[in-house]
Amino acid sequence: MSDFTGKTAIITGAAGGIGRATALLLARRGARLVLADVQEGVEETAALARAEGTEASALVTDCATDAGVEAIVGHAVSGFGGIDVLFANAGVTGGLLPRLDTPSADFMEVLRINLLGPWIAIRTALPHMQRGGAIVCTASVAGLRAGAGPIPYSASKAGVANLVQTTAMALSGTGIRVNGVAPGLIDTPMTAALFDDARARGKEDRIGQLNPLRRGGRAEEIAEAVAFLASEAASYVNGQVLAVDGALSAQLPFTPKWSL
Ligand SMILES: NC(=O)c1ccc[n+]([C@@H]2O[C@H](COP(=O)([O-])OP(=O)(O)OC[C@H]3O[C@@H](n4cnc5c(N)ncnc54)[C@H](O)[C@@H]3O)[C@@H](O)[C@H]2O)c1
Repeated sequence: MSDFTGKTAIITGAAGGIGRATALLLARRGARLVLADVQEGVEETAALARAEGTEASALVTDCATDAGVEAIVGHAVSGFGGIDVLFANAGVTGGLLPRLDTPSADFMEVLRINLLGPWIAIRTALPHMQRGGAIVCTASVAGLRAGAGPIPYSASKAGVANLVQTTAMALSGTGIRVNGVAPGLIDTPMTAALFDDARARGKEDRIGQLNPLRRGGRAEEIAEAVAFLASEAASYVNGQVLAVDGALSAQLPFTPKWSL
């Protein structure tokens, strides 16, 4: 099991979902946390993390602006003396419906939060990261293949996947690793409307019908992958985007007759 005792981790998008699940997992494994989100729920996440016996602070701020990220990084540096783990996770869908008429401003806002945000976080945190530090960004299966998200969202997450690769290469010789996690369909506040509607209609099993594991995923399952990538256990894993999706992205849309 990965141990984060004495390490400091920044997590963006930590008010709920994958960010909160990761915060609580790293807290249980000893990490000191600086958590950030535009939503005040991040303060509750910090309180839950402190209840696990670690130090955790919360900042309610926009994680896709220079000023917001400078405040987060400044907090980690002044409070804990540096950064060991950066989990750039904040994101928005920009609307789940497929549209061919998305206005430019709406498209750019999704890119700003989902792609520029992680870049600002990496750029700002890097000078304060310890050798052996780890960066993890949240991509998505929607950024690996078509069919899992709307156009601006999918394009932004494809950008995140490349950001991980090119940044890992740019950091050659620094000892800092950069990886991404690409969740499949996960039950979080982002997808609550979908999961809640399916549950209300007694059709939750339909959510996983195209997935070899026949179910959606849980935030805690993504957190485990993030913790691995951020830990010493992944010391030779660099520049990779790990799909954690029950094999959703491994298959073509085809229903074989021999299917069980
Ligand atoms: N839930 C899924 O099925 C799924 C699948 C693939 C990828 N993801 C990605 O996982 C990440 C976490 O999403 P989640 O599923 O936990 O949903 P979520 O909505 O609970 O988490 C996203 C968080 O990001 C925050 N956020 C949005 N814009 C922000 C900004 N500008 N500054 C700071 N915080 C901001 C939100 O307030 C929210 O708390 C996102 O990047 C999302 O795109 C989710």
